[in-house]
Amino acid sequence: MEAIVAVFSDWGIGSEGTQQVVLKADRKHFRELTDGTAVLVGRRTLGDFPGGRPLKNRHNLVLTRQDIVIDGAEVVHSEAEAAERARDFDRCLVIGGASVYRQMMPYVDTVHLTQIRLAPASDSFFPNLDVDPDWRCAEAGPWLEEDGTAYRFCTYVRSSTKEEP
Ligand SMILES: NC(=O)c1ccc[n+]([C@@H]2O[C@H](COP(=O)([O-])OP(=O)(O)OC[C@H]3O[C@@H](n4cnc5c(N)ncnc54)[C@H](OP(=O)(O)O)[C@@H]3O)[C@@H](O)[C@H]2O)c1
Repeated sequence: MEAIVAVFSDWGIGSEGTQQVVLKADRKHFRELTDGTAVLVGRRTLGDFPGGRPLKNRHNLVLTRQDIVIDGAEVVHSEAEAAERARDFDRCLVIGGASVYRQMMPYVDTVHLTQIRLAPASDSFFPNLDVDPDWRCAEAGPWLEEDGTAYRFCTYVRSSTKEEP
């Protein structure tokens, strides 16, 4: 599985159930990377989507402990069930939030990470991959700017992942 996330300088990713700063360029990048894939999302993050609705053009797997039906999505009830179901798709990206990223990291081998050079107060965090010996930054794009905010797109892979010959 892969994960996609936008992190602030302190690895914060959200506050009070929402993302404090959203860049248009990052939204576009997210759409391009997830279009036509399966995505795994926590029930709280789904609630923060426009209208609380699943994303179009993706197979939405929603993680919840509740016995609920969500129009336009498939519900899964544990991280193990999510990981098992993800195998049925060519690509499945974990799209948050914090608790889902944390639990699914053992199943993830690639993280598409947008670094946003800001540090608004966050109450949700992504694991700091820069201090985790299991992970390394394989690719870091140039710093770009949107409305005065610097950001760049990076790819982290498991340290054990072999380079292409
Ligand atoms: N910066 C980014 O790229 C990014 C991306 C996504 C989200 N976020 C941020 O992340 C924050 C939300 O994260 P969060 O941790 O509060 O919520 P979350 O991970 O989106 O959702 C938590 C919910 O998922 C369900 N869940 C989690 N683990 C489960 C398991 N093992 N089995 C079954 N269900 C499980 C539960 O739903 P039930 O309560 O229904 O049982 C739980 O309440 C927000 O601030 C959001 O903006 C940031």
